[in-house]
Amino acid sequence: MTLAELLPSTGCSTEPVLEEGLWPDGTRVAGGDLVIGGLPATQLAARFGTPCQVLDERTVRARATAFRTALPRAEVVFAGKSLPCPEVYRWMAQEGLSLDVSSAGELALAKAAGFPAQRIIMHGNVKTAEDLKAALAYGVSRIVVDSLDEIAQLGALATRGQEVMIRVTPGIDARTHAKIATGVEDQKFGFSLASGAALEAVLRVVEQPSLTLAGLHCHIGSQVRHVASYEEAVRRMVGLIASCGTRISQLDLGGGFCAPYLAGERDFDLAGFAHRITGTLNYECGVHRVPPPRLLIEPGRSIVANAGVTLYRVCAVKHGLTRTFVAVDGGMSDNPRPALYGAKYAVRLVGRGGRPKPVTVVGRHCEAGDVLAEDVPLPHDVHAGDLLAVPATGAYHHALASNYNQVCRPPVVAVKDGVARPIVRRETEEDLLRRYV
Ligand code: LLP
Repeated sequence: MTLAELLPSTGCSTEPVLEEGLWPDGTRVAGGDLVIGGLPATQLAARFGTPCQVLDERTVRARATAFRTALPRAEVVFAGKSLPCPEVYRWMAQEGLSLDVSSAGELALAKAAGFPAQRIIMHGNVKTAEDLKAALAYGVSRIVVDSLDEIAQLGALATRGQEVMIRVTPGIDARTHAKIATGVEDQKFGFSLASGAALEAVLRVVEQPSLTLAGLHCHIGSQVRHVASYEEAVRRMVGLIASCGTRISQLDLGGGFCAPYLAGERDFDLAGFAHRITGTLNYECGVHRVPPPRLLIEPGRSIVANAGVTLYRVCAVKHGLTRTFVAVDGGMSDNPRPALYGAKYAVRLVGRGGRPKPVTVVGRHCEAGDVLAEDVPLPHDVHAGDLLAVPATGAYHHALASNYNQVCRPPVVAVKDGVARPIVRRETEEDLLRRYV
């Protein structure tokens, strides 16, 4: 957030300007309040309490549609782990997307949503026998295998020519945070292309009478900014397809398309991606004389991140030797991303402006690392009772939330055209106690 954005704009409106691209479509400042999905944030906080994760349905649907429009011949698969919630899965089904799940638990949510099995793909570097059995019982269309052990286990469990894809490690450094870089060698995901393990996996699948090889898969990482990383993945994967000696009809490039979290960060260049990837795919297939496989992509973050806003109430303001700490009623239990990946967020005070000063927004948990945002400008007189809004919190927030310190997890409230409804309710102490024996 820049200083200018906290001050009244110089245009005809006297309302402050919102950072471009960070907030759900149509979010605006009106009368000092922040209006999301047609509803003032102060009203949402009063009705649903804080912390509260607000999700704008129209933004989610628009982004899902944007992927389908940009790549009309590809299968667009929503990465269900980014926002696991039956209602969101239903929206995806309605928008014509497929769904990827990475456990029997995520599959249970998909089933609850009535998500069609023929559009579900199961992932995961480890699938337990329970995961595999659940996938087979529901009849998921494809299972992405990730180890020789899994190929043997699935081969023994499957009966009807279960379609599988092979997860390949293409050896690509997508220049993202090490903890979410999954295309490089020597990490736990996939079969190495360079070592020949991927080709061996192809042979093993082909040998299994109960399995059918549907395609190859790679996922080079998350929060990937450069289309060139995907182009390189296509080159390497088509090279592998050419050496398989058997028809490969699907190429899944995974997800990872970046989303903006801070002012000035750019959205993923979806049109550029679509153009360059289809061009590279056709060119490489021509060079290798193989028929172009059908393309699949698995966006998660880029569909839901900027549709989400988290509302927190300020509980205390404390002045350290050099820093001012603004403590809120949530923290690393609803957002562990700063602690895990050094993720940075913008923060906005709802309801009023004022001369800004840099503060550190911290959570309520018993760890010094429970910091939500460092050195963010808030009005100098920020005080207990103020309402804060944090944009770009729609992806991997509900998904990664925990009960640390037995703090109950916040609700997810969907908003659309002035109507709000919880799609995940707030956790209660009763919920917590239910598990203890
Ligand atoms: N496909 C596969 C096989 C994946 O493993 C993932 C994410 C995706 C697709 C979707 O990636 P996306 O488009 O959402 O970047 N917790 C981390 C992100 C972990 C991503 C895991 N895999 C975070 O909060 O940044």
